[in-house]
Amino acid sequence: KILIVDFGSQVTQLIARRVREEGVYSEVVPFQSAAEAFARMQPKAVILSGGPCSVLDDNAPEAPREIFESGVPVLGICYGEQTMARQLGGVVEGGHHREFGRAEVEVVADSVLFDGVWGLGNRYPVWMSHGDRVTRLPEGFQVIAASENAPHAAIADETRHYYGVQFHLEVIHTPDGARLIRNFVRRIAGCTGDWTMSAFREEAIARIRAQVGQGRVLCALSGGVDSAVAAVLIHQAIGDQLTCVLVDHGLMRMGEADWVVNLFREHYNIPLVHVQAEELFLGKLAGVSDPEQKRKIIGGLFIDVFDAEAKKIAASHGGAPEFLAQGTLYPDVIESVSFTGGPSVTIKSHHNVGGLPARMNLKLVEPLRELFKDEVRALGRELGLPDAFIGRHPFPGPGLAIRCPGEVTREKCDILRQADAIYIDEIRKAGLYDDIWQAFVVLLPVRSVGVMGDGRTYDYVCALRAVTSVDGMTADFYPFDMKFLGQVSTRIVNEVKGINRVTYDITAKPPGTIEWE
Ligand code: XMP
Repeated sequence: KILIVDFGSQVTQLIARRVREEGVYSEVVPFQSAAEAFARMQPKAVILSGGPCSVLDDNAPEAPREIFESGVPVLGICYGEQTMARQLGGVVEGGHHREFGRAEVEVVADSVLFDGVWGLGNRYPVWMSHGDRVTRLPEGFQVIAASENAPHAAIADETRHYYGVQFHLEVIHTPDGARLIRNFVRRIAGCTGDWTMSAFREEAIARIRAQVGQGRVLCALSGGVDSAVAAVLIHQAIGDQLTCVLVDHGLMRMGEADWVVNLFREHYNIPLVHVQAEELFLGKLAGVSDPEQKRKIIGGLFIDVFDAEAKKIAASHGGAPEFLAQGTLYPDVIESVSFTGGPSVTIKSHHNVGGLPARMNLKLVEPLRELFKDEVRALGRELGLPDAFIGRHPFPGPGLAIRCPGEVTREKCDILRQADAIYIDEIRKAGLYDDIWQAFVVLLPVRSVGVMGDGRTYDYVCALRAVTSVDGMTADFYPFDMKFLGQVSTRIVNEVKGINRVTYDITAKPPGTIEWE
């Protein structure tokens, strides 16, 4: 077990993720409750996260003394390094040179932390983000790596097993970071790495039971992987205290609603209410072409419909539900906050059900909050969800509405659904589906002239989109070969009445976004 003390860094969960990847259980706790957690968990080692404060501030947060008194190995990252250095008698000063982003460190001494990863005298890329720096080491410490602006970029007291790094080794921009964390977790802390997704599942089930008690839980299924995994997990924890609701807004992909309904009702025997609300949604969307407006309408209607359904469920179960289950993932939690420190602005109002808990006075159950997409998939496999379902690409809450720039109509949705089904079918047949983060068709509000047979056509243009991504926050277009694109184009134009021209979107994110709206 490893305790991760959170000083408020935006990437603390990435540390937890790296530790999980080593097959070791960890808990992230805010620094305020770290002493209590340390006593309860009796961890084999502690990692102190980065954070936005300066150790020079009045009342700067500290790591509990007990940690240093206990003799367990400690790894301090960024702020964590500074507070450790200071608490053990070193000196930290405001750096004259702030370092943000890519930097290089040179290894100046051997250390168990670097074993088999970094060699003495060599330079390695790392990701820095700090203003202060350690200027005098506590007793027993030596410098093990230095950068131009941080002479104490990595420090160690090999006897007491204390390590501090000024750079963020949990982010992918520090390419060897995961292996350094492995050294800490395996070699320094001596953890064995036998913790698995199945253990996560057991722990999550216990947490859900403890939170929910005898209460009733509602879960809005979107058709996506996250809400489905959350629902199945919660059902394993509390059985029929859970009711799932699928609000079918008519903006789903072909066959999607049926797939979800069958999976839940037939395969899992989980109570599911299927609300058909296509007319309502398309009615309210008529004449609306502004993307944010569309999102707001869909989000608002979703809440209305869901609320009405909840009242019916309450009436038939003799009591209002107290909890709302959501498949919120960790990237959703940090989505709008940029790691490089810029101010966060609303690019798109993603959280289409955000208003739900407040309006209905529901408490949230979010069992996937610590996980990343690929971990949710692993958990889904653990829960026995079919591979084809788990591996599905993400799909936005507002559905096809944001893939029809301009006004959304039933006719356009039908055309889009057909084209999308062909595109995905070809991608699957070519064996590329799992290499791609997300692939879909966008139906453009543009008509073009074409010729088919001997006749003139004047039909819609569509754009194919396919991107690779690790987390949806940045993305690159997928480099299909031209033959493949040609084949998809031919099939769409031949088989879908209403489209006579196909284009391929080759924009990365940034500067584009994955969706067009
Ligand atoms: P963008 O288009 O912002 O998308 O690059 C990043 C990821 O988020 C999904 N997305 C949404 N998901 N409601 C959602 O639930 C939304 O309004 C929404 N907009 C975008 C998108 O599909 C991609 O996976």
